[in-house]
Amino acid sequence: MKVSYIKAFEDNYIWTIEKDKDIILVDPGEAKPALEYLEGKNLVAILLTHKHLDHVGGVEEIKAKYPKARVFGPIEIENLNDKTLKEGDSFNLLDYDFKVINTAGHTYDHISYLVDGRLFCGDALFSSGCGRVFTGRFDLSFETIDKLRSLPEETLVYPAHEYTIKHLT
Ligand SMILES: [Fe+2]
Repeated sequence: MKVSYIKAFEDNYIWTIEKDKDIILVDPGEAKPALEYLEGKNLVAILLTHKHLDHVGGVEEIKAKYPKARVFGPIEIENLNDKTLKEGDSFNLLDYDFKVINTAGHTYDHISYLVDGRLFCGDALFSSGCGRVFTGRFDLSFETIDKLRSLPEETLVYPAHEYTIKHLT
């Protein structure tokens, strides 16, 4: 699986999953850098983890240019989704099987995507911490971290922000 990223805002990663010219974007918060990257490629789908603008802000503009791309996301952004997902759902894109897990805490309906031993986890988990618990539901956040901890140790983690140094200093 070819995974790369597009830098957005100050510290966002828009992750890309690619197969030949076909491409999937994860959490495109900003349209401009994504549209530049998409030049000459076939956008198949946009996967969203949660409702925050720095993750979904680019969707409408990107979708206007790539109307065939399907948008997947949790119920909290139902208005943007072509397909709304929840814990336990699965789907196939680019011949890869994606599994949806609920990773609530940062927001109530935050979801993450597991595919090919990789976890695309938005703001649920960072390389040196986890997202702010805006819901105030630390119990949900605890459950989420516990759930993610139970994934195989070799799972590759793709958070939506580069906070590593910030969190360690
Ligand atoms: Fe967020």
